[in-house]
Amino acid sequence: MLAKACDNLRMTLDSTHLASSPGLAEETLAAPLRDPDDARKTVVLGVTGCIAAYKACEVVRALVKDGHRVVVVMTEAATRFVGPLTFRTLTGEPVVTSLWDDPDAAPVHHISLAEEADVIALVPCTANVIAKVAGGTADDMLTTTVLASEAPLVVAPAMNTHMWRDELTQANVETLRTRGAIIVEPGTGDLACGDVGEGRLAPAEEILDAIRTELDRCGDLAGVRMLVTAGPTYEPLDAVRFLGNRSSGRTGYAIAEEAARRGARVTLVSGPTALPDPFGASTVRVETAAEMLDAALAAYDDIDVVIATAAVSDFAPVDANAGKIKKGDAPATIELAPTEDILARLAADKGERLLVGFAAETSDVSAYAREKLQRKSLDLVVANDVSLPGLGFGSKRNRVVLIDAHGEWELPEMDKRMLARELLDEVVTRLASR
Ligand SMILES: Cc1cc2nc3c(=O)[nH]c(=O)nc-3n(C[C@H](O)[C@H](O)[C@H](O)COP(=O)(O)O)c2cc1C
Repeated sequence: MLAKACDNLRMTLDSTHLASSPGLAEETLAAPLRDPDDARKTVVLGVTGCIAAYKACEVVRALVKDGHRVVVVMTEAATRFVGPLTFRTLTGEPVVTSLWDDPDAAPVHHISLAEEADVIALVPCTANVIAKVAGGTADDMLTTTVLASEAPLVVAPAMNTHMWRDELTQANVETLRTRGAIIVEPGTGDLACGDVGEGRLAPAEEILDAIRTELDRCGDLAGVRMLVTAGPTYEPLDAVRFLGNRSSGRTGYAIAEEAARRGARVTLVSGPTALPDPFGASTVRVETAAEMLDAALAAYDDIDVVIATAAVSDFAPVDANAGKIKKGDAPATIELAPTEDILARLAADKGERLLVGFAAETSDVSAYAREKLQRKSLDLVVANDVSLPGLGFGSKRNRVVLIDAHGEWELPEMDKRMLARELLDEVVTRLASR
């Protein structure tokens, strides 16, 4: 493998004549990182201090061959395994090895690189960088760029079996996964340290598959105008009390953020949640079902796709007391009236729009969801059983069934960010087949 990588490298050196031009690398280091007219996708490839660092050459070469712009960022330890000139030569781009390489850069180097990245891939990734990224440490160019970026993150770990199996490493990997990173699991085999076991960097083709999948998703929703509803609604009983539900809003927020990242113009209408506004989406905060309907209708004219994840209260107290009801004045019963069904109202004026609804049920999930699909003329329903412990409402993970007019198929349990990706892939496919 190493011999092949070296052969490939030699060929590149011969063809570009860079090997005998040491000044060129220095000159380019001082140049701005990006040509504004460059429309290629940008992969920021982080190389860290592993024996397997040389295997990043193969991944870099393939991505360059695909036509992408690859900017390599190396940790200080990585430079002890492979020289930056190798990557400089393979990519034709300056290799970044320090936060302090280019103090005069404008805009600020680590932030501009974080923003330019369509995908960040850590190949290979040490236990140390996994821990740093999981903990939010930003003490070198690579970890600072990762923390500052909204780009999808692909991580290909490589390390000794005991380091990989260590519960701290496993917890850190799980943190990354939960935050939406794609982990290209290491394989089993001979390790550089002499051990045989798990920890060997995954084959280049597997790593490339993961990076290419994320690159394909970049911009695939460009020009699409999307309305997402999310969170619960609060229907007031009095000045301080309300009828609500346990929806955290996570699914809708993840969809809004992912759709915006993939190029959609997103309006998120959200009930009360503890979540910050998703990056890139325009967020309208509301409280009640009536306010959510008004906000959705206000945005609706310009919308191509609706994804209605909100857990809208089906009922609201008929008379909300203007002040706080005193303990002694508590009514024996609370009269409720149905709220207007937001999705049904939007569906009544569907036009060419693609409508995706969510159905949270505690029994007969598929049957209720299918009934909802038909009654509201939806294109797709995402059904989930909210009675499952640890999943769905209030949780970061979910297991759902997708249901359309032709059938239904179950997705495995996954993080809500991953679910957002899968669902938007489905939306892209449906938009393309229209
Ligand atoms: C010869 C050698 C090989 C190493 N291989 C690995 C490895 O495969 N995976 C790993 O996580 N750490 C490995 N290490 C340890 C890292 O290089 C070390 O933790 C370093 O601080 C990582 O820096 P970085 O994460 O900033 O790149 C190796 C160290 C040496 C000396």
